[in-house]
Amino acid sequence: MSAERFKVEFDPMGASVEVDAGATLMDAARTAGIGISSTCGGEGTCGRCRLTIADGEMPPPSDADLRFMSQQEIGAGQRLACRSHVVGHTRAHVPKASLVTGQRLQLDGPAGAVTLEAGVRAYEIEATAPNLHDPRSDVDRVAAALETTHGVRRLLADPAVVRQLTPLARRTGWHLTCYVRNRDLVGVESPGRSPAGLAVDLGTTKIAGYLIDLETGEVLASEGVVNPQISYGEDVIARLAYAARNPGGADELASVVRAGIDRLLGTLAETAGVAREQIVDAAIVGNTAMHHLFLGLPTRQLSAAPFVPAASAPMEVRARDLGITMAPDATIHMPPVIGGFVGADTVAMVIGADLDRLEKVAVGVDIGTNTEIVLQRPGLGHLASASCASGPAFEGAHIRDGMRGAAGAIEGVVIDGDRVDIRVIADGAPVGICGSGIVDAVAELYRTGRIDGRGRFQRAARGVVEGDRGLQFQLVSPEASGHGREIAITQNDVNEIQLAKGAIAAGIEILLESTGTPREDVDEVIVAGAFGTYLNLESALAIGLLPRLPRAAYSQVGNAAGTGARATLLSLRDRERARRIARGTRYLELTSNPGFHRRFARSMLFKEPVTKGS
Ligand code: FES
Repeated sequence: MSAERFKVEFDPMGASVEVDAGATLMDAARTAGIGISSTCGGEGTCGRCRLTIADGEMPPPSDADLRFMSQQEIGAGQRLACRSHVVGHTRAHVPKASLVTGQRLQLDGPAGAVTLEAGVRAYEIEATAPNLHDPRSDVDRVAAALETTHGVRRLLADPAVVRQLTPLARRTGWHLTCYVRNRDLVGVESPGRSPAGLAVDLGTTKIAGYLIDLETGEVLASEGVVNPQISYGEDVIARLAYAARNPGGADELASVVRAGIDRLLGTLAETAGVAREQIVDAAIVGNTAMHHLFLGLPTRQLSAAPFVPAASAPMEVRARDLGITMAPDATIHMPPVIGGFVGADTVAMVIGADLDRLEKVAVGVDIGTNTEIVLQRPGLGHLASASCASGPAFEGAHIRDGMRGAAGAIEGVVIDGDRVDIRVIADGAPVGICGSGIVDAVAELYRTGRIDGRGRFQRAARGVVEGDRGLQFQLVSPEASGHGREIAITQNDVNEIQLAKGAIAAGIEILLESTGTPREDVDEVIVAGAFGTYLNLESALAIGLLPRLPRAAYSQVGNAAGTGARATLLSLRDRERARRIARGTRYLELTSNPGFHRRFARSMLFKEPVTKGS
């Protein structure tokens, strides 16, 4: 007997879906294409997926609801979407703070010089039309024209391309643009249509896509979207756990991200006025978990020691096999990964920041849930890399009022006496605090003596009060916030930042030490990635998140991985370079380093008082 089905409507987006009785509101939101925050992957342990049932059958509160909400909030219909089961027709209001959409995304990166040498070339031909005296097949006559005019020999054509070729050739009078990869006909188009390619930086949180003219290297359109896997868990660990726990979970994660990339490609193509049939090549870089989940590779071994990738070499896959609509025989190039924790996005970051070519001692850092660190030192003979579990605190997770960098997030804080000045993304009423705001707030609390060198709130300091989770400092009162609740930094929040910054600082120090590189010898620290772009470097230096080097040694380069992805799309030489980088990078496992735990504990401290801007 089939299950009863109920309609679930979501406000303010006006989406409505039908789901089986007993499905969770989170399942319904996913079906409706609404991204609801989910740090814990639906385990009921993060409290991020709050919504309000405005109308219809009210499900009883779950244990998790009772843990995260007051009786008053529960009475007002608030529930956690992942723990609430649909028991009848329902209308739910999703507050802005629970949505993952609208996140601020960094698309630009260093310009970088790329030698144009695309893997797919476009050739215009005029083939002869068939007649009773020349009954060669359609493919044979196109092959002959390509050989005569452009020297392309022994052409191969996949059936999918032939299905496109036959009607198009008759429409265009055998005047065609042929897209060719080595000897393979990737697709055909009307004359004058230049080939385009898709470069993607597939992040755990966001996907940055670039549509590029393969003949000129010009970026025709770029766009960032939230990775739709986010409603299955906000970090890699939660997603790998989802894949391991649920039968078909890995396939589900693969299909949502592939569909997300296909939608992104559609948007880019429309913006640039390019037909999908003109998009003949792609390069996608991501961390190893994203890479494996996208390709449908086994992931279980990524979450258990010794954390090895199932495959690390570069791969080519047919776009159509993954449900991504491009030219009929277009392939997607997946650059190599370095190891279980250092992926193709790090290889791309090295290329984007030109780290492997610098004639000086340089450290590249991409701060995220996992922070990747790469050291370039002339004479060392290889790049050295490490990865540290810095946790999702900089994404706003595990922070009481944390959120990602979206509209309504506090992104900057200055404390002057009793006065707290905040800067809010998109200028509205604040509803939470994002990573750069938290780093600022903690640096200011330390600078003004409200927390000590060990990160403990000072009970007697101005504005430090006892909250429901211990000592805290209020940044925004309930009246001034966008959701009627205060926004504060709690003792636990400070501790979370200490853990994150301790891991990063210890990681950098140990990487330097293990390669015999004194800190003073570092000429440049390149801070890459979205979080690094918005990070206030003075605050990061003040709390010891980054090594204490002169401010001039630092550069913030934006999305270097995106630049590297574009390079591997546009240049076969850069594909080869990526292979060399992956092979020639030594990975240092930090946790097995005997000094790591001591360093980590020391790096969690805040040290000498620092004056902002010094
Ligand atoms: Fe619902 Fe975490 S509590 S997703």
